[in-house]
Amino acid sequence: MNQKKKSENKSKTYTLFDNENGLSYELPLINGTVGPDVLDISNLYKDSGLFTYDPGFTSTASCNSKITYIDGEKGILRHRGYDIKELCENSNFMEVCYLLLHGDLPSSEDYKKFTNLISKHTMINEQLRNLYGGFRRNAHPMAIMVGVVGALSAFYHDSTDINDPNQRMIASHRLIAKMPTIGAMAYKYSIGQPYIYPKNDLSYSENFLHMMFAVPSEKFIVNKTLSNALDKFFILHADHEQNASTSTVRLAGSSNANPFACIAAGIASLWGPAHGGANEAVINMLTEINSKDRISEYILKSKDKDDPFRLMGFGHRVYKNYDPRASVMKNTAHEVLNELGIKNDPLLDIALELEKIALNDEYFIEKKLYPNVDFYSGIILKAINFPTNMFTVLFAIGRTSGWISQWKEMIEDPVQKIGRPRQLYIGNEYRKYKPQEKREKISIFKKLWFK
Ligand code: ACO
Repeated sequence: MNQKKKSENKSKTYTLFDNENGLSYELPLINGTVGPDVLDISNLYKDSGLFTYDPGFTSTASCNSKITYIDGEKGILRHRGYDIKELCENSNFMEVCYLLLHGDLPSSEDYKKFTNLISKHTMINEQLRNLYGGFRRNAHPMAIMVGVVGALSAFYHDSTDINDPNQRMIASHRLIAKMPTIGAMAYKYSIGQPYIYPKNDLSYSENFLHMMFAVPSEKFIVNKTLSNALDKFFILHADHEQNASTSTVRLAGSSNANPFACIAAGIASLWGPAHGGANEAVINMLTEINSKDRISEYILKSKDKDDPFRLMGFGHRVYKNYDPRASVMKNTAHEVLNELGIKNDPLLDIALELEKIALNDEYFIEKKLYPNVDFYSGIILKAINFPTNMFTVLFAIGRTSGWISQWKEMIEDPVQKIGRPRQLYIGNEYRKYKPQEKREKISIFKKLWFK
């Protein structure tokens, strides 16, 4: 929708008619800067006694935001007005964190101050090390992330007062700075290696590679191609409007919960394979397919309505053209594979063949199912040697900048209220309580449930 049409829409309303009762309700239209306008239904229940019904929020704007703009039809993703491709080509993750958090790109002086501030928060309270020892060595690192990030609220009491803007900012810096340390420690714990402390003369992405792959007994030199690829990965995952995990962070925060608890909630939501867990699921799927000859079998499975299997890394709730992040990741994947001299990776071969077949298949074309960012990021992360179960942790590290910026925006929004969706109740009407001996003797318990 162009700007001219937008101004024409000023003070436009839509009318909802209840023909049976001869009533009507005015729904004001609210204009954004770009993208779809929204109908203001906030008084609808008060005026009409009606709720609206929108499972999965496919037509519902839950808030207003100045941070990220997506046009799923055109494949556009912008942060604070800047195109994601331009940011990936010219910027770096620290600049993007600053942009999301503060609304503008930093001056050189502010950039120095910001990176310095972040680097001063990279260590975690030494006592938090003990928490790791309480987990099984084979715990999924996302389980550890949920626990340790939630536990930050038990350590950093001077940044949990959400009503103090300084404390909000300090908590934001702490979260961005500590996530790589917490993630790398989860990995080191799982393989029984000593934790590697952060090195503040390294960039954000270099430092993460260092904490992941260095050992105290050897000198570790960071490969610049790999750290640049990782930086792009973090930029591409930094924010994505009101997705499931971001909405979770906002909803948790709407009750005035502290920021560490809110980000832990976001991590839990991100873990699911329909969201952040998809990059891990892509590699697991490619491993299961195992050979190019079996691709058609899996394509058929993904189309079968009676089979829950879906092609991981394909499709997106919002992007119905292509995922602009996927094209950047695709190019980066080639840079990484060239740098590492990986020419014939069997999983990559299967991935590229799968991509080719799916892009030409009627089912995928008709349903607008394109490879998403996770399809290619899995290939990059695997080539760098990240274990598959760490993929979603990397996503969480990048997304923390978006989560905390969205959380801060919500707290600072004067119309902010506790999030409290309503429902369409379809259960029993009133029933009178029956004593146990008068109930029917049907057992719902299955043997399988007793462990
Ligand atoms: N493989 C096969 N069929 C699919 C796939 C897929 N990956 N994705 C969607 N479809 C089909 C659905 O079965 C449905 O078919 P129908 O219309 O005949 O019922 C149709 O396409 C629309 O799918 P929905 O599930 O309604 O779309 P929705 O927007 O709810 O889901 C989602 C989007 C969850 C991403 C879905 O495409 C999916 O599960 N993809 C695989 C997981 C994945 O890669 N997730 C990562 C998302 S990106 C991110 O989080 C960074």
